[in-house]
Amino acid sequence: MKDVKVERKEFFNIVSDILENEHFQELKNEKHHGTSRYNHSVRVAIKTYMVARSRGWSYVEITRAALLHDFYTNKDIKNVDPKKALVVHPKAAAKNAKKYFNVSKRVQDMIRTHMYPVTSEMPKTKEALLISLIDKEVGTVEMLKYKLIRRPDVPKENVEFRGNQKQQLYSILKNDLQME
Ligand SMILES: [Fe+2]
Ligand SMILES: [Fe+2]
Repeated sequence: MKDVKVERKEFFNIVSDILENEHFQELKNEKHHGTSRYNHSVRVAIKTYMVARSRGWSYVEITRAALLHDFYTNKDIKNVDPKKALVVHPKAAAKNAKKYFNVSKRVQDMIRTHMYPVTSEMPKTKEALLISLIDKEVGTVEMLKYKLIRRPDVPKENVEFRGNQKQQLYSILKNDLQME
């Protein structure tokens, strides 16, 4: 694949401070679509980054927003009826993104509207809409692959996280996006 090494390196440089943040790393222990919320978030972010880049958009802000779109732990929404988690978690993620990474209002909006139309507030920008669409695509594939149809020939997602942040990131990308 053309430019893959450049893309991987650039992607890492854009998000490394988030990946290395101790609070963000808590997502490694959160179950999500049969895998971890960390792995899911990385997949949504790399796909968003690649689409935005290929379209000539400025892509730093949208890539960071994509990585932070599910930045919440189950503790953050522990008093919420589980059925309402789908509606409430975008707000919790936007709040954490603001608290730990001081993200802009635009980024908070991208995070807060990613569950549309489950939530009523529509994405306001093309960037917000892209994150929302890619999240659904990635989530659907993960649900099929890791949760709903467990086939013995499909290996379980690696959630052991060996090596440094960069090695862990590349391992997720290699396994799921065949980027090598
Ligand atoms: Fe979400
Ligand atoms: Fe998500």
